[in-house]
Amino acid sequence: MSKFVPPYPRPMPKRRLLLQLLLRPVKFLRSRSCAISALSDRAYSMHMGELTTPGQRIYIANQPDLIKRILVDEPEEFPKARMSADMLRLLMGNSIFISNGETWKRQRRIMNPAFEQARIKIVFGLMLEAAEELFARLDARAAGSAVQIDEEMMRVAADIIFRTIFSRPLTADEAKLIFEAFIRFQEAAFATGITQTVGLPSWALPIGRARARRAAKTIRGVLDPIVKARHDSFHSGEPQRHEDILQSLIAGRDAVTGTRFDAGELCEQVATLFLAGHETSASALAWTLYLAAMDQDVQDRMHQEAVAVFGGRAPQFHDMKRLEVTRKAFAEALRLYPPVAFMPRSVAHGCTMRDKQLAAGSTVSVSPWLIHRHRRYWQNPDAFDPDRFDDPATTEAQRQCYVPFSKGPRVCLGASFAHQEAAIILSGLMLRYRFDPIPGFVPRPVARLTTRSANGIWLRASKRTAPAG
Ligand code: HEM
Repeated sequence: MSKFVPPYPRPMPKRRLLLQLLLRPVKFLRSRSCAISALSDRAYSMHMGELTTPGQRIYIANQPDLIKRILVDEPEEFPKARMSADMLRLLMGNSIFISNGETWKRQRRIMNPAFEQARIKIVFGLMLEAAEELFARLDARAAGSAVQIDEEMMRVAADIIFRTIFSRPLTADEAKLIFEAFIRFQEAAFATGITQTVGLPSWALPIGRARARRAAKTIRGVLDPIVKARHDSFHSGEPQRHEDILQSLIAGRDAVTGTRFDAGELCEQVATLFLAGHETSASALAWTLYLAAMDQDVQDRMHQEAVAVFGGRAPQFHDMKRLEVTRKAFAEALRLYPPVAFMPRSVAHGCTMRDKQLAAGSTVSVSPWLIHRHRRYWQNPDAFDPDRFDDPATTEAQRQCYVPFSKGPRVCLGASFAHQEAAIILSGLMLRYRFDPIPGFVPRPVARLTTRSANGIWLRASKRTAPAG
C-alpha cells in the first residue's frame, strides 16, 4: 500500500533556484526564506555541500562517516558555531547550549544527574498533571471543533518543563507573557541568523537585536526571581522540600572542580532548559498528531494500544515502555520533521573533508533534516511509515543516519525526558480523542529555531466514546 507523503518544501534544481533568486529576488526571499525551503534537489542525495556567502563559507556534511567525525570522534575540532549563538546569548548567557571547552564540560557534569533515568521517573507525576490540564482544555471545547494543535502542544510542553523545574504549574498570566515574548524572540533570532549567513554581524540589525533583548528580559523576568529565591533559600540552610530539576541544579556539585552553579549561572541554565525543553518537544508532538490524523490506520493502532496498555486505569511509569506503536510514530515524526533541522559547528583548525579544504573559522553543519531524508540511505524517504523502525533493512540507516537528538558528547541532555513526555501526552490524547484533518488545510514546514508550520497545524478533535482511564 502506498504511504502518505506529508508536505515539505519541494526541492528544485539548483539552476532554477538561482534563476528565481536573480529574476525575482523579493519573491524568492519571501517564499523560500528559510534554510529548508532553499534546498536544491541535489542536496537530498549529496555527501557534502558548500555555500559561499559574502561573509563566509558554509559546508553541509551529509554522509554518515562525516557526521560521526564531527559529532562523535572529533567534537573538539568542531565546537558549537557562533552563528545564531549571538542572539541566543541574550536569553541564555553562556549556558550549556552555547558554551564550549572546559566551561561546557563543567556545566554538563553538573547538569547530567538532573536528567538521569531515576530523576526522570520522579517527575513522571508532574508530567501527568500537566497532561490532565491539557485534556481539560480540550474537553472544554465544542465537540469536533478545529484545534490549533501546535499551540496546544506549546502550552502543554511549556507547562511540563515549568512544573518539572519548579514543582508548580505555569499560570495563565505567565504563559501569556512568556509565549508572546518567545514569538518576538524567535523572529528576531531568525532575522539575525539570516544576516549572519549573508556575512553581516548581528549588531548590523540593531532593531532586531533591541527587540530580542527586550523579549529575553521579559522571559527572564518570569524565571529569574523564582530561581534566585530558591538558590538563596538553599544557601541559607532552610530545609528543602522539592525534588525537582531546579533542586538538582542548585545542590549539584561538579565532581572535578567541586564547584556549584552560582545564582547567575543557574538563571542562565534554567532559561536554556525552558527554551530547549519546550519548543522542540512541542514541535515533535504537533507533527506526530498531524501525521496520525493523516494516516488513520496508524492512529487506530495508537488508540488500541493506549486502551490495551492502560486498561481503564491511570498511567504508570512502567507502562511507557509498552507503547510500541506510539514510540514508532513519534520516532518517524522526528525523522520527517526533526525539530532541530541544522546543527552548525565551527571549524577549529583547517582540515580536509572529502575533496574540500575547510579553512579554520568556516562553518560546517550537520543537518538532521537532510540526512533523515537522504535518497541513498532511506527507502521511500519522504513517506510516513512508522513501521520502518521495525524493518531490519533500515537498521543501518537508523544507526548512522538518524540524529534527531544529535549524538556524541553533546547529545541532547533532555532526550529521555522528551520520550517520557511524548509517551504520556500522545497515549493520553489517543485514548481520549480522535484527530481528523481539516479539508483543504496543509501545513507549511519552515525551519526557524525549531521546525514549525508557518501557518500552524490545525486538526479536528473529537472525544472518543470509549471510557478513558
Ligand atoms: C523532541 C524533543 C527534543 C529534540 C528533538 C531535541 C534535540 C536536540 C538536539 C538536536 C540537540 C543538539 C543541538 C546541537 O548540538 O546543535 C539538543 C541539545 C540539547 N537539548 Fe534537546 N531536544 C529535545 C528536547 C529537549 C528537552 C525536553 C530538554 C530539557 C528538558 C532538552 C535540553 C537540551 C540541552 C540542554 C541541550 C544542549 C546539550 C549540550 O550541548 O550539552 N532538549 N537537543
